[in-house]
Amino acid sequence: MYCEIVPFDTPLSSIDAANLKGVILSGGPSSVYDRSAPGLADWLRGCEVPLLAICYGMQLLAHEMGGTVRPAARREYGRAHIQLSDSEHALFRGLPHRFEVWMSHGDRIETLPEGFQALATTASSPFAAMGDPFGRIGLQFHPEVAHTAYGRRILHNFLYEICRCTGTWTAERYVDDHVASIARLIRGETALCALSGGVDSAVAATLVGRAIGDRLTCIFVDTGLLREGEAPDVMHASAGLDLKIHMVDASAAFLAALAGIQDPEEKRRRIGALFIDVFEREARALGDVRFLVQGTLYPDVIESATPDNPSAAKIKTHHNVGGLPANHSFTLVEPLRYLFKDEVREVGRALSLPTSMLGRHPFPGPGLAVRVIGEVTPERLNTLRRADAIVVEEIRRAGLYDEIWQAFAVLTPVRTVGVMGDGRTYGDLLALRAVTSEDAMTADWARIPNDVLATISSRITNEVPGVNRVVYDISSKPPSTIEWE
Ligand code: XMP
Repeated sequence: MYCEIVPFDTPLSSIDAANLKGVILSGGPSSVYDRSAPGLADWLRGCEVPLLAICYGMQLLAHEMGGTVRPAARREYGRAHIQLSDSEHALFRGLPHRFEVWMSHGDRIETLPEGFQALATTASSPFAAMGDPFGRIGLQFHPEVAHTAYGRRILHNFLYEICRCTGTWTAERYVDDHVASIARLIRGETALCALSGGVDSAVAATLVGRAIGDRLTCIFVDTGLLREGEAPDVMHASAGLDLKIHMVDASAAFLAALAGIQDPEEKRRRIGALFIDVFEREARALGDVRFLVQGTLYPDVIESATPDNPSAAKIKTHHNVGGLPANHSFTLVEPLRYLFKDEVREVGRALSLPTSMLGRHPFPGPGLAVRVIGEVTPERLNTLRRADAIVVEEIRRAGLYDEIWQAFAVLTPVRTVGVMGDGRTYGDLLALRAVTSEDAMTADWARIPNDVLATISSRITNEVPGVNRVVYDISSKPPSTIEWE
């Protein structure tokens, strides 16, 4: 299914209403009584397509349609069991009468709006789910979290049984549609692609390569902010992609631009600006190249406030979206802009990219610059690089690489006291970060076995000069982010 995430107040005129099959209102931290609480867009009141309102979305729907919502005596957080009152409802087709769900709410619905009836209850919520005859459904629990049993099935039922979607938006179709539309966009002209060695840019480049053949030149920039052995590895791995690839060593310029800079956003801005300088230079050398292909993904778009998405809460200026200088000379081609990572991997499989490339952990465009906290120097990069290589090696050796979303080392600006060979040391504190995630929008810290952590810690303190302490980051996203900067 093709789906877009839009702000709550998006007007109907910005929506392809003729092709709209259903709407999902997400949860959120507000109470319907908050002054600045997100409201229900007018067009949604009379909307004729099915509506699934989750948690805050359900409370908002109930409140706006004439029901009552009040603070619950006890906040309901975590596991709960729901009992279906209407197990014949299409949303619950194929489900048992009672199952475990994940709740997280402070307010609760006291009376239903007219026309709605209860579809499920829990011990503390008489209205854990509600529905009306027009396909409007509210769920107090979260079907989208892994802890809700049958959550995926509920979403499946909403899409297939209620919205009557047919699931034709497949990776193969995506490839066909995009190869055709990119060929139409670029026509007889040429394009450059920023290749990083990661799955996103490899998929983007391969799509564009299929569309315009050798009128695409891929540039791999050695920024000096790469991991150990990464530049030769990427060139080697990309050799089989049937693309024209050119490596540019711009490490000296990147390191010079970062000298003395501590602020993460300033680092990203400088790195973004330099990337564009490199590409503009390469474009001039190749003649007049107008198009620049990037592997920007949907989470980058959602989490970055950009001119076409001003209401996104800006979390970070991911440089492949918001960190680009406004006055660059390229027309951007971003064929993955509406995809999540798992969908990109599916498109990559449809394009027959090697599994080793598709399963590679994501690596941020600004590279190790956002993992050396504070000032980036060649020495600190070297320390981080050596530690990071150990982390990845041990994660692979333990057979954990594929089940972890990202595992990496972070060099903190903290120095701590240690003891080595009976002498006092005052060395660097290195942090280990490993998370599980489905799409980088939310993440949890990976439960790596203690003996693997012990091996990593002891190897790093023994093999990486200057590091005398290793800590493991046990924060989830939210409230933290995956990267430290
Ligand atoms: P955060 O730290 O925002 O990371 O939770 C989410 C995902 O995005 C990657 N990331 C970046 N990727 N440019 C990128 O291309 C960036 O500036 C950037 N910052 C974070 C991060 O590695 C994770 O996969």
